[in-house]
Amino acid sequence: MQHRALISPSILSADIANLERDLARISSADLIHIDVMDGHFTGNLTFGPNVVAACKRVCTAPLDVHMMVTNPDATIDWYLDAGADIITVHAEASTHLHRTIAHIKERGAQAGAVLNPATPVGLLEDILPDLDMVLLMSVNPGFGGQSFIEGCYAKIARLRELCERVGARPRIEVDGGISEKNIAKVAAAGADTFVAGSAVYNAEDPNTMIAHLRTLAQNAIEAAR
Ligand code: DX5
Ligand code: ZN
Repeated sequence: MQHRALISPSILSADIANLERDLARISSADLIHIDVMDGHFTGNLTFGPNVVAACKRVCTAPLDVHMMVTNPDATIDWYLDAGADIITVHAEASTHLHRTIAHIKERGAQAGAVLNPATPVGLLEDILPDLDMVLLMSVNPGFGGQSFIEGCYAKIARLRELCERVGARPRIEVDGGISEKNIAKVAAAGADTFVAGSAVYNAEDPNTMIAHLRTLAQNAIEAAR
């Protein structure tokens, strides 16, 4: 059975000069998505542990930290110390993914693996039972505001089938190009956790958009049961 729908707005689309105000505009979020980019794994450089710690001071929702970095083992502890509740690491960047996932869980956080659009879901087969979350990228990572890659619907469904086959129940999160236009289809394919940056922050009232997205996703999950 699919988990209930959670919306994880990405602060990549927030106004960093007004971060506290923009966190208040997403106060109804289920999770807060924080995109950590190192300028190597992606062609963009974003937030360090000081930003995670700042969010922790003013947010009640769990912090969903998406590590788009090479050699995540070198810096994961910084983000755990700063208050990350969920850490997801790219399978493409992790040489010893099993050990990295175990370390995050030993530190008391939830652990997830992320796949880029070109990375097949089968890569995670042997580690699925250890994961709290799988994050499927539906754009190439680096920037907000890109278009959802259509082939991802089938990929989400393949991951869902693989989870059922091996008896694992990680949350399935999807990140990139999600909006009110496609979230129901993403949920129907098998996702339960939805990152949305521009769709939330470009809305007149981000909190109203979060509720709208959650309802669309939850209705699709229930209809698919
Ligand atoms: C892209 C990031 C996303 C981004 C999504 O590399 O991982 O989390 O903020 O932004 P939208 O929802 O605008 O595609
Ligand atoms: Zn992200």
